[in-house]
Amino acid sequence: MAGMKQAESSTKSLVLNALQGQSVSRPPIWLMRQAGRYLPEYRALRARARSFLDLCYTPELAFEITMQPVRRFGMDAAILFSDILLVADALGCAVTFVEGVGPKLEPVRSTADRARLRPAADAKKLAPVYATIRALKHELPAETALIGFAGAPWTVAAYMVEGEGSKEFYAARAFARREPAAFTGLIELLTEATIEHLRAQIGAGADVLQLFDSWAGVLPESEFRRWCQEPVARIVRALKEEHSDVPIIAFPRGAGLHLPSFADAVPVDGLSLDTTVPVAALRRTLPRLCLQGNLDPVALLAGGAGALEEAERIVAALASGPFIFNLGHGVLPETDPAAVAALVAHVRSLQLPCVPSHGGERDAC
Ligand code: CP3
Repeated sequence: MAGMKQAESSTKSLVLNALQGQSVSRPPIWLMRQAGRYLPEYRALRARARSFLDLCYTPELAFEITMQPVRRFGMDAAILFSDILLVADALGCAVTFVEGVGPKLEPVRSTADRARLRPAADAKKLAPVYATIRALKHELPAETALIGFAGAPWTVAAYMVEGEGSKEFYAARAFARREPAAFTGLIELLTEATIEHLRAQIGAGADVLQLFDSWAGVLPESEFRRWCQEPVARIVRALKEEHSDVPIIAFPRGAGLHLPSFADAVPVDGLSLDTTVPVAALRRTLPRLCLQGNLDPVALLAGGAGALEEAERIVAALASGPFIFNLGHGVLPETDPAAVAALVAHVRSLQLPCVPSHGGERDAC
């Protein structure tokens, strides 16, 4: 049996190996928002569709967009092309994306607004997402991990209450304090809907899941635990009960000093680090957890040798344990695709130190 496992892991994706704490021959790489406006082939498809949501809800288009960066750069993972706000939409909080502005939602600002939401996400509405995953799973080679995802309850709730994007989410945070019962209800509704949505993504063929908590960093300590950590822990535990083999990455952006206690409390397989996290220090604190990150998207936007040197520094800091190279947030729309190609080639070429990763010696040593 042990021999069979070895044979399987040689064609298995490096991303899955890293998430299982196994040795890898070179740094695995994918980028958040690897599909998007910086790619001319994305802009061409986007121009043909009526809206951004149409792209997400049309399997043929979402499939094609997911594949674009995989074909162009040979990324080690494909991330489903979709959006975290689809769950809000499927719960009856209608979402639109306004060109040049961002998302607009029907704000949930009272107990009555909360009560008008559906008791569970409309499965018919989300069905195209699962069809996209099935088609991708069929197309992708075993070396390319397919990442499904969802927003974490706090971040999706913040958009639902605010009704749009924001830098501070004052309305959402004030609502959580003024109407704790209604807000708790909203977080619980989203927690259940997210579990269902991710379960269905696993059922359709997702190899890995990532939970995006983009606005974790605006909350004070007690609220971080209550609105970010606890709901994410509930989601991860529920999924692990049935699918202990599907790795889950959490991205509590801006969590800072909470990261070690978050990693203790939530049984995740990987932690995605935002741009501000000092990677060498966190590596020492969490020597065995798979860490993902964290090149500044602005370094990639600026391009040139600076971006590649930054990437080297990150690999050197993280490589004593399992890690996946990524950005600290999504690719910016103004990024030159040639800079992305140079980054991917450079990260791939970096030698990993001959240190035993947990679970065994590095094969390449
Ligand atoms: O990473 C990927 O390539 C997969 C696809 C993906 C998108 N959004 C596509 C998208 C993923 C994983 C997301 C997650 C997402 N969506 C997050 C969490 C990550 C983060 O960025 O913090 C959030 C907060 C959203 C909500 C959202 N979607 C906003 C605020 C916006 C508008 C701002 C913007 O960047 O345009 C979107 C739109 C969106 N989602 C685009 C893409 C490619 C741009 C749409 C377009 O104009 O063509």
